Amino acid sequence: MNILLLGSGGRESAFAWKISQSELCSKLFIAPGNGGTGAYGKNVNLNPNDFEAIKKFVLAEGITLVVVGPEEPLVNGIHDFFVADEQLSKIPVIGPKKEGAILEGSKDFSKEFMARHGIPTPGSKSFTNDTLAEGLAYLENHSLPVVLKADGLAAGKGVVICESIADAQAELKLMLGGKFGTAGSLVVIEEYLTGIELSVFVLTDGDSYVILPEAKDYKKIGQGDTGLNTGGMGSVSPVPFADQKFLNKVEQTIIIPTIEGLKKDNIDYTGFIFFGLFKVGDKPMIIEYNCRMGDPETESVLPRIENDLVELFVATSEKRLKDVQLKTSPKSAATVMIVAGGYPGDYEKGKVMAGIDNLRKSLAFHAGTTLEGGLIKSNGGRVLAVTSLQDDMFDALQSATADAARVYFDGKYFREDIGFDLM
Ligand code: AMP
Ligand code: GLY
Repeated sequence: MNILLLGSGGRESAFAWKISQSELCSKLFIAPGNGGTGAYGKNVNLNPNDFEAIKKFVLAEGITLVVVGPEEPLVNGIHDFFVADEQLSKIPVIGPKKEGAILEGSKDFSKEFMARHGIPTPGSKSFTNDTLAEGLAYLENHSLPVVLKADGLAAGKGVVICESIADAQAELKLMLGGKFGTAGSLVVIEEYLTGIELSVFVLTDGDSYVILPEAKDYKKIGQGDTGLNTGGMGSVSPVPFADQKFLNKVEQTIIIPTIEGLKKDNIDYTGFIFFGLFKVGDKPMIIEYNCRMGDPETESVLPRIENDLVELFVATSEKRLKDVQLKTSPKSAATVMIVAGGYPGDYEKGKVMAGIDNLRKSLAFHAGTTLEGGLIKSNGGRVLAVTSLQDDMFDALQSATADAARVYFDGKYFREDIGFDLM
């Protein structure tokens, strides 16, 4: 098969690494890819949101499967575009159509979906500019802290946790006033949960599903989970506090009602569902859906999947997932993300990188990098994901951390404590 993978981050590097191992993959193209993905296929300079350009490329190269990494093309309707086009309609796309991607594209839609299908989630209410006065009054009696969420995609920045009513009221005005552009023209006010977060993933063909290894993502920039939120500074899989009993509850109370809910709502969903969960006591609750895999969770999840990933994708596109048994490695994976100094604030790009070939017990999944004249240079905030897969979690954590120290570039930073809190 000739496969086109869309995206350019660490997640897509992990996908490209895994897809390139498949017997079923003859040619792999990554659009646009990064400084590392060329090792697994051919980078193509295409914007994942330029559907016409993608069409031309797909037809010219005889692409027979499209895998979509990030949410944006899905929310923009790339799958719908393929379905509606006579020449493309037979080419399977891994990733939902707009009607499914809206689970991530609109927090208000997803909260209503959860409520409609009895899926445990913190209580919430949504407001717009027209109902600002009601929103401010609603906040007067709200418990603290309180969580405000911009409805639409806001590049991971649309969630604000407020510690006082006055702060929350000011934030509501800012959001509805355009702080996050149109993404914030509707704001969800949500109860704050106290618990520990984890990410659970399924791949579904709309009828059936396979549950992928769960993971935990570390979102804060600083050691000990302090400071600003980032796209993710590291991940581990499995998650020690998510035992089988808890994961069974996740399946029964969250995954099954979601898959059944999609069917009841006539949403035909093909692709990944990322469940952003909290463990509150022994109970799983969901705070968000994403219509894609997580980053940097994918870097820890895919190395633990022993199946041929392309076979899983073909089974998904042919609605045969119910016949597939997922084979999960009992090993532990740890991912440490190396970022540019200053991230998640301002940072510099174009720093020459060294040491990537010196990793001893880890894989290097490039994220924000480019390959220029034979040199790998930094090209983003999150630069390189270092993943170690070992028999023992402690060994995986130590190896990934030690290997992250072997990579050099001006201003580099990584957290040395990823996963050790769980030991
Ligand atoms: P999101 O952009 O939805 O992933 O949210 C960003 C972060 O905000 C999450 O990873 C949580 O740490 C936090 N968060 C979101 N919703 C809640 C909630 N209801 N209670 C506590 N923390 C939350
Ligand atoms: N790591 C969180 C996300 O991918 O949204």
